[in-house]
Amino acid sequence: MENAQKKFVIKTYGCQMNVNESGKIAELLTREGFERTNDDKSADIIVFNTCCVRDTAEKKIEAHIGNTKILKKQNKGLVVAVIGCMTQKNGAAESLKKKFPHIDIILGTHNIDKLVSYIKEGRRPKTFIEILAERKGSDEILTTTIDQDGQTAYINITYGCENFCSYCIVPFVRGKLISRPFADIEREFDEILRAGVAKRIVFLGQNVNAYEGSGYDFPKLLRYFNDKEGEFSLNFLSSHPKDFGDELISAIKDCEKVEKNIHLPLQSGCDKILKLMNRRYTVSEYETKINALRVACPEVHITTDIICGFPTETEVDFAETLETMRRIKFNAAFVFPYSRRSGTVADKLDGQLPLKVKRERATKLIKLLQDLSKA
Ligand code: 5AD
Ligand code: SF4
Repeated sequence: MENAQKKFVIKTYGCQMNVNESGKIAELLTREGFERTNDDKSADIIVFNTCCVRDTAEKKIEAHIGNTKILKKQNKGLVVAVIGCMTQKNGAAESLKKKFPHIDIILGTHNIDKLVSYIKEGRRPKTFIEILAERKGSDEILTTTIDQDGQTAYINITYGCENFCSYCIVPFVRGKLISRPFADIEREFDEILRAGVAKRIVFLGQNVNAYEGSGYDFPKLLRYFNDKEGEFSLNFLSSHPKDFGDELISAIKDCEKVEKNIHLPLQSGCDKILKLMNRRYTVSEYETKINALRVACPEVHITTDIICGFPTETEVDFAETLETMRRIKFNAAFVFPYSRRSGTVADKLDGQLPLKVKRERATKLIKLLQDLSKA
């Protein structure tokens, strides 16, 4: 395929991890002489970097993939690639191929580094599928990307998650927890500092504070990079409360470059539900950590995630969550109606709630948060 002036579109869904990986793919394609565009009609390549955390995302993505069938009729050379979490689910790649035979390339989460070379090979007579069972050590995409705000650089420090929260599909599609070698992280970090563009550097991982590599745990890693010279701030996404200990709180306090801006997903404010979610902490343990963090850093800004309408959640359970939210007073919260994910433990529980109830509870919580923030 002739690369000159070929244009590509990347459509990214889901979390910051995907945004970061899309940025890397864009960088590699640009180096190969492709040009980025946002206009589907003039594109020669459309890449879908997908998410499957909730049903709403999947439905939207499928509709968007469906639309490219028409584009392909108008532009016979158009290459359509689908990568990321959605394709890695058990049997999903085959069913995507059946539903959308016009897709050229389907890759999973463990081999997106191959995407650029497959794209260069051009259109396929049949859908090409490559899904690996696990991530191998060498499949790093060695580029560094700066967010579209032009200020933030993201560095992956862990891949995967093995917490198996009962509602969550991530451990099934992103695989076991792997901490990147410390030397690789430092190389990427130094490159970002040398380029001198990023004002913020954010460490990424599905369970970022479980990092463990080359004698460094997460608090030590934060302290190490805090000591690097330069004008920048540090942050991290996303933490699990069970791995959020005193050491980490002290590191956040001591490190002047670490932003006092912490996202710590609570998921439910009711112990019965937390247990069923397999979160491995109680509301009171969570609150103790938040209180310690607030004592250490009085200016701290804390945000969270809450799932409404988890199976078996009663009105009384939900009222407990509302009460917890009133007490903790987060600076902001992301609220999600529970979405059934096939293969997860929660999906098999009796007591699934109607969508209407899940949505009503989510709306009620959002309203409470608005009232609290006004007050
Ligand atoms: N249903 C609803 N929300 C979910 N999340 C993860 N899995 C589900 C699900 N099955 C939410 C959690 C997580 C955020 C990224 O997405 O709150 O913290
Ligand atoms: Fe999913 Fe829980 Fe892992 Fe977060 S910690 S990615 S919610 S399993």
